Amino acid sequence: MRHSSVKASEFRATIRLDDIRTWDAACLHQGVYAPLNTFMGQEDYDRVLKSMRLASGTLWPLPITLPVPHDIYAAVQPGCILRLQGTDGFLARLTVTEKFCRNLSYEAQQVYGTQDPSHPGVNRLFTEPEGVLSGKIDLLRLPDQGYSEPYWPHQVRGILKDKGFRSVAFFQTRNPLHRAHEALQKTTLELVDGLVVHPLVGPTKADDVPTHVRMQTYRQVLDRYFPRERVTLAVFPSAMRYAGPKEALFHAITRKNYGATHFVVGRDAAGVGNFYLPDQALNLVASHAQEIGITPLTFRPFGYCPVCDAIASARSCPHQDKWLSLSGTELRRRLQQGIEIPPQILRPDVAEILEKAYRSQDSFDQGDQPNPKEASS
Ligand code: ADX
Repeated sequence: MRHSSVKASEFRATIRLDDIRTWDAACLHQGVYAPLNTFMGQEDYDRVLKSMRLASGTLWPLPITLPVPHDIYAAVQPGCILRLQGTDGFLARLTVTEKFCRNLSYEAQQVYGTQDPSHPGVNRLFTEPEGVLSGKIDLLRLPDQGYSEPYWPHQVRGILKDKGFRSVAFFQTRNPLHRAHEALQKTTLELVDGLVVHPLVGPTKADDVPTHVRMQTYRQVLDRYFPRERVTLAVFPSAMRYAGPKEALFHAITRKNYGATHFVVGRDAAGVGNFYLPDQALNLVASHAQEIGITPLTFRPFGYCPVCDAIASARSCPHQDKWLSLSGTELRRRLQQGIEIPPQILRPDVAEILEKAYRSQDSFDQGDQPNPKEASS
């Protein structure tokens, strides 16, 4: 570690946190990332990249770090007290204990399995400064919570306790609720007492469907087509990393903190493009499930089969090559032009929500389109 000539007690600075680090800081504080309660120091960071473990030996697949601008990094030394000013009103104090520099190419390779900048996680990483800080965080104000659904583990655990479930599966998603999701969720309800549909509501890439639009689809489908006493809608306020298998493992570990006994993991969970194999995420979660203390509910591809005339699964249907699917471009075109989406892919009332949002000026930023991959499969 390099030390500057400025005395720690004399150095005061404000670090502005982006959305990702704001919500990471809040998650660290609220126990979403337990046992981690602050941004990683070098020992944890190095071991996580090398062997998916914290310095203590606990399984942990993703780095959670606090990058800071070069000038602040150069001036800061252990003992400095910094103001962390995040988005949505977040405010905290960081007493610095450590600073170190990351090798971003190595981090990309270890976390994402690639250094290809067309990978959204890699692309974001390569825009960040290498220098990161760790220290003790004193929370002054949590970020404003935009949704009425519960955000934090203690809230969700409370709800599940009141319901008296012995077994509860969590369903991570970052997409609007389509028919294959619904089939996975209903199958899950055959196996456990309760289901928590747990959409990620932290930052996502620009071409994912905006969270407030997705939330409408979850509320609507759950209210209309599910036994509400067995299904809870809560939110997971962390950012999407698109790290495929390692992120799916992270999702399983964090859901255990929320009270999960089971975790749903399907085709190409947390993946993007063709960077990961369809079974990679579910295999990694399954191989560490015992250590996490969670039962994985692994699902091979589901989709609509016109021969069987049913939503089918690759494990039980021999006609996967005939399954109905729409390309992303075609799905977008149909949503934009109000052309019908096959109800076997999206429920008409869900398509209507997306269509409306799609055509309104403010729901999608420029170039912000519904994600085709998930909706079409
Ligand atoms: S996320 O993991 O990146 O949030 P997404 O929102 O698409 O994924 O899907 C949520 C969950 O459903 C993930 O576990 C994913 O693997 C699974 N899934 C989505 N579509 C299918 C499908 N057609 N067949 C099997 N599993 C699926």
